[in-house]
Amino acid sequence: MTLRLSVVGTGYLGVTHAACMAELGYEVLGLDIDAAKVDLLRSGTVPFYEPGLDEVLQRNIAAGRLSFTTSFEEVAAFADIHFICVGTPQAAGAQRADLSQVIGSIDSLAPHLRPGALVVGKSTVPVGTADGLATRLAGAADGVEVAWTPEFLREGFAVEDTLHPDRLVVGVRSARAEAMLREVYAPLVAAGTPFLVTDFPTAELVKVAANSFLATKISFINAMAEVCEAAGADVSELAQAIGMDPRIGHRFLGAGLGFGGGCLPKDIRAFMARAGELGAEEAVAFLREVDQINLRRRSHTVDLARLTLGGSFHGRRVAMLGASFKPDSDDVRDSPALDVAVAIGNAGASVVVHDPKALANAARVYPHLRYEPDLASALAAAELVILGTEWREYREIDPAWAATLVDDRSVIDGRNALDPAAWRAAGWRYRALGRPHA
Ligand code: UDX
Repeated sequence: MTLRLSVVGTGYLGVTHAACMAELGYEVLGLDIDAAKVDLLRSGTVPFYEPGLDEVLQRNIAAGRLSFTTSFEEVAAFADIHFICVGTPQAAGAQRADLSQVIGSIDSLAPHLRPGALVVGKSTVPVGTADGLATRLAGAADGVEVAWTPEFLREGFAVEDTLHPDRLVVGVRSARAEAMLREVYAPLVAAGTPFLVTDFPTAELVKVAANSFLATKISFINAMAEVCEAAGADVSELAQAIGMDPRIGHRFLGAGLGFGGGCLPKDIRAFMARAGELGAEEAVAFLREVDQINLRRRSHTVDLARLTLGGSFHGRRVAMLGASFKPDSDDVRDSPALDVAVAIGNAGASVVVHDPKALANAARVYPHLRYEPDLASALAAAELVILGTEWREYREIDPAWAATLVDDRSVIDGRNALDPAAWRAAGWRYRALGRPHA
């Protein structure tokens, strides 16, 4: 009989996981409490932009392997393995994670679970959460168990990362739970993905430790960018040189506006908050510095823009290229590009924001900014152009063409993604973070 799985929560992680598990040949029922979202998914529409995900979703709906519901009862009757993929955002007014969606979904599922059901957490949670949920499920049907298997997917590569992950980490308390997850992931393991079995707290910590490391690597190179600015050195050349040491490597050494998105910023803050609760705050005190270096890149970019415009934003026209927190995504959560656009707008400039995919999401959060879907119109009459997100469309801009549109050929490359020589040759004043100004 075909293995049946349920996926609770159809946000970024849940839709991807549900569609990719169906792609492996399983029967999958996804649940969301948002009926409008369930209707969209049933019609084969992904409610956000993620390359390649629509096809996987539509193919598996058409094959009859993937469906969606709003009913916990239905989900519990459908499968014995339930993946919890709901969001764990930063709590309002605090550093810690808000676990209300995780707890709410477990409490809704619990009374309907069949004996022996396995509840598998995938959301990023503070260490200790899985243990607490196991206690919470103690009154459910006989043999109901919890497991924790963190998700490492990157936006923009979600399908690839789910079907070909670097590793699978499962936190379990019984051989039975391990066996159930080994069965689910057998096709990936057969294709060579390492399968690491561990306990609950280690599985939970692997995720936040990985994200903390990545955030630290980015902030390290951005700290070097600050020193390069002070010393007249070039951080791109520095990154290229240090990355050639295989112990360091080139990836995540891209200096610029720093990290944003729905994961890295809130995960390092939640980690600090949780470590504090455990009495281990000193161990991760450096993450505060990582966060501050990261946020400083945004304010530094605003300062550089002001300087470039001669000291004041008042009435000046600025084009911001990019609204999403990174290319190939329409996610604007904690987007460095948007943050800078808002700050410059608040300081009196007239800002036009362009983005290939994220304008609708940006407009929902910051309705007062001007959004322009056509690149040439966004550049028209600008006195300063800022590259905030390194979409391919921007990396491929012909600087001679752009020069014909703007009022002043001034560009700040916030992602070190443009070719300085080409832009300068086309008459632009090119400035970048961590690189000498010509
Ligand atoms: C991240 C983790 O990579 C992923 O494993 C985890 O599951 C979720 O969080 P994601 O948020 O999709 O994934 O984005 P990622 O590709 O890690 O980039 C995060 C941010 O760092 C982006 O804003 C990006 O622009 C920035 N970044 C990345 C840099 O500033 N420099 C770099 O060199 C790399």
